[in-house]
Amino acid sequence: MQVTFASTNQNKYREVQSILSAHGVAVDFAQVELIEIQSDSLEEIAKEKTKSAFAKVGRPVIVEDDGLFIDALNGFPGQYSSHAFKTLGNDGVLKLLAGFNNRSASFRSLIAFHDGKRLSISEGRIDGSISDTITEGGWGYDPIFIPAGFDLTFAELKEKKNEYSHRKKALEKFAQWYLK
Ligand code: IMP
Repeated sequence: MQVTFASTNQNKYREVQSILSAHGVAVDFAQVELIEIQSDSLEEIAKEKTKSAFAKVGRPVIVEDDGLFIDALNGFPGQYSSHAFKTLGNDGVLKLLAGFNNRSASFRSLIAFHDGKRLSISEGRIDGSISDTITEGGWGYDPIFIPAGFDLTFAELKEKKNEYSHRKKALEKFAQWYLK
């Protein structure tokens, strides 16, 4: 089975490829800029994104929409995670959390598939907390996210991240559906 992952994010592609290939789904990469609608719903964003990806790529395609939801900030940055990362960065997020005892957070990933006819959405979530300091390595919020049950951030967990991540859970569901 073959599918195309449409994104501008090479880091995501590397993870998607490693996870899906382990489930017998081959993935190639279409590095395309996709318009994201403004919405409070990750699901709506993912649906529209996968339709526009299929229109551009012209073959069965998956896109991902994801975000980091911090409880003490009422879910911020959530669907604005990409923008918040560019503007505030990890340093800015840690500053926003200064003074809060509750550092719990979750990552959510929605994988949306479209082949011109079928549209499927698969969701994955991982709970955890925000670290006190920025650790080395990783990408995006990896250096400040500690998954529940670990003392290390996603950045420090390196390849092991792919065994537990929100992305892994969403892709596993997608693969089960796709291979059926
Ligand atoms: P989008 O789905 O491309 O809009 O991305 C949401 C943002 O969340 C990304 O730009 C990253 O900053 C962040 N993000 C999503 N998944 C991860 C992850 O696995 N590790 C670190 N940051 C992530």
